[in-house]
Amino acid sequence: MDKTVVQDILLLKNKRKITMLTAYDYPIASLIDKAGIDMILVGDSLANVVLGLESTTQVGMWEMLHHAKAVTRAVKHALVIGDMPYDSYQVDPDASVKNALRFINEAKCDAVKLEWFDKCIQVTEGIVKAGVAVMGHIGLTPQTADKIGGFKVQGKDAEAAQRLIEQAVLLEKTGCFALVLECVPDKIAGMITGMLKIPTIGIGAGQYCDGQVLVINDMVGLFERYKPKFVKQYINLAPQIQKAIENYKNEVLEGKFPAAEHSFTIKKEELDKLER
Ligand code: KIV
Repeated sequence: MDKTVVQDILLLKNKRKITMLTAYDYPIASLIDKAGIDMILVGDSLANVVLGLESTTQVGMWEMLHHAKAVTRAVKHALVIGDMPYDSYQVDPDASVKNALRFINEAKCDAVKLEWFDKCIQVTEGIVKAGVAVMGHIGLTPQTADKIGGFKVQGKDAEAAQRLIEQAVLLEKTGCFALVLECVPDKIAGMITGMLKIPTIGIGAGQYCDGQVLVINDMVGLFERYKPKFVKQYINLAPQIQKAIENYKNEVLEGKFPAAEHSFTIKKEELDKLER
């Protein structure tokens, strides 16, 4: 399978659904890529599901690039998107182009994603002009959740839904190649999807989007702090890993591990020589 480029993703609209998952490290990115997922997002959800932080605003460029590099080392097929951390474009919009280019040049990502905020269009325009493919993100935008009423479904009344539609249209015009819709009523997501030429990728946005994304740790049961309604857990790994660790501990304490097959030997004559 060839490496996926932005144009491949655009061509999937109205052909088949687009698949996307997050990844933060080499082994998981390898598995996702081997499964043929179209896009991998090195999400700033890294903060919550990997680093044990409360807010995505607590990760910066250093952490994001570190993990993005591990992911791109593993990926042969999927389009890899680096999620721009809060302080890389919202705190200092003037630094946004330089930071977006770091995801491409240093971490070898294919695109970047950034969340809607008051200077989103200006920042997106600059990054697109610099030749970097941008994925937009509207609806529930965790980096600014405090400004939009918390971690709640967005666009629930006509006025709020109209605002989301306007943001989507503006982002398409500004040159985004795709749009994440997070926690948006399914019919509103469907309206936006129908209005745009670029694909929409939903998370908590229902079945009418062009594609879907989930946080990998949520879908495999490796994040136990909370479980949003939109998550479907396809496997529950945490109890299985817990059991394996307990088994290991008990076997070490009981002297059952390591067994002969896990040990190395020395020839008897060498041992005799040593003992003499
Ligand atoms: O950081 C992330 O994981 C995301 C997805 C929820 C789209 O932005």
